[in-house]
Amino acid sequence: MSFLAFPRGGRQKMTARLLSVGLTVLFLSSCVPLGAARISCRNEDGDAVDWFVFYKLPQNRKQKSEWSGLEYMYLDATTRRWQRSESLVNMTQSVLGRTLQQLYEAWEAKNNSTAYLIYNDNVPHSVDGSWKQGHAKGFLLWDKSQGFWLIHTIPRFPSFPEEDYSYPSTGKKYGQIGICVTYNYSQFVEIDSQLLSCIPNVYSCSIPAIFHPVLTYLPKMCVGSPLPRIPRQRLSRLQSIRGQNFLHFAKSPYLIDDVYVAWMAQQLQTNLLVETWQPKLPSNCSLSYHVYNIKEIRIPGQSTFSSYYDHAKWCISQRYYKKHWTCIGDLNRSPFQTRRGGGFICTQNKYIYLAFRGLVLHYQNCNQS
Ligand SMILES: *[C@@H]1O[C@H](CO)[C@@H](O)[C@H](O)[C@H]1NC(C)=O
Ligand SMILES: *[C@@H]1O[C@H](CO)[C@@H](O)[C@H](O)[C@H]1NC(C)=O
Ligand SMILES: *[C@@H]1O[C@H](CO)[C@@H](O)[C@H](O)[C@H]1NC(C)=O
Ligand SMILES: *[C@@H]1O[C@H](CO)[C@@H](O)[C@H](O)[C@H]1NC(C)=O
Ligand SMILES: *[C@@H]1O[C@H](CO)[C@@H](O)[C@H](O)[C@H]1NC(C)=O
Repeated sequence: MSFLAFPRGGRQKMTARLLSVGLTVLFLSSCVPLGAARISCRNEDGDAVDWFVFYKLPQNRKQKSEWSGLEYMYLDATTRRWQRSESLVNMTQSVLGRTLQQLYEAWEAKNNSTAYLIYNDNVPHSVDGSWKQGHAKGFLLWDKSQGFWLIHTIPRFPSFPEEDYSYPSTGKKYGQIGICVTYNYSQFVEIDSQLLSCIPNVYSCSIPAIFHPVLTYLPKMCVGSPLPRIPRQRLSRLQSIRGQNFLHFAKSPYLIDDVYVAWMAQQLQTNLLVETWQPKLPSNCSLSYHVYNIKEIRIPGQSTFSSYYDHAKWCISQRYYKKHWTCIGDLNRSPFQTRRGGGFICTQNKYIYLAFRGLVLHYQNCNQS
């Protein structure tokens, strides 16, 4: 099987664009697509997508490499496999730029029917991270119809809505990852409860009064008012607007354990291969389902990089026929982070799994050090 799909053909893309214009005109009146005006995850063309995953590659110190630390790979329901991005992650035409643009525009319009929340334990321009709150990073934008939730690993990102889009220079060196999912409004009630357990460090938000009767915790987190008792852990089913199923694990700081071994692998009933930043906890075969640390990543095009240079946090089932889960989230396999809040979004989407499984060059068995 080949994972080496980096089509960059301009003509192909042009045809696809013309086709999509034609299809939009054709179907505009007959069905309700992910309309241009609806709040959605967006691809590099600015088109609405159900979900996407991006994987920013680490800066490569080998001179022959062309990685500046701003290139990324991209995957969505239509590409089905990794594609090299057309733009760099610091550009407004990147998937992050395109998706965030909706948030910045809503902020500028002071729109009372739109809500947003941005959280990160490392706030832009700050030097120190927050230790009390969750080791969690992401942003959400929604209205009473739909919205998106983007979970990522980039410290000091995104910039405050008062500022222009930018990508922090500190986010270049290491690999970074993120997943955006477009949800119907009904799902935000679940997201509300999930985020409570993660205890995110919210640094910019606006949740107008029309949302307060339905959402319990997000408005409180936004204004910093006292929170109720926080569940140790909470598992929730989420469904994207196009019907892709997800499972979200929310870990509070009161669940003091290795979230991969103690919870996710056993809950999903699958051995996991885990990629996290400089893991301090060794591969672990103590419980029924095992957890193995990935050591090296191979990206399409035959380049490789050591997990040492990867700040991304993700895991996958060891084998396809054993459930093929993929999870992306907030926590490293570090003893310190067993005491932190954070979450993971997981799916059994076949294409996401195969894309990630193809990246694993080797992992550490339990008897190795
Ligand atoms: C993005 O980074 C590249 C490389 O450092 C730089 O040349 C370019 O000007 C940057 N673009 C923006 C929009 O910041
Ligand atoms: C405010 O947001 C709503 C829902 O997202 C949208 O329909 C409306 O056009 C927006 N109004 C302005 C002034 O941006
Ligand atoms: C939003 O609500 C505030 C406070 O209720 C009000 O002052 C403002 O005019 C409203 N903005 C819009 C665009 O409706
Ligand atoms: C989407 O959310 C709206 C508002 O909560 C709800 O009425 C509707 O049933 C939901 N649709 C689906 C398909 O879940
Ligand atoms: C594996 O992880 C579990 C759960 O955190 C822990 O109880 C156990 O001691 C670990 N085993 C080893 C060999 O580190």
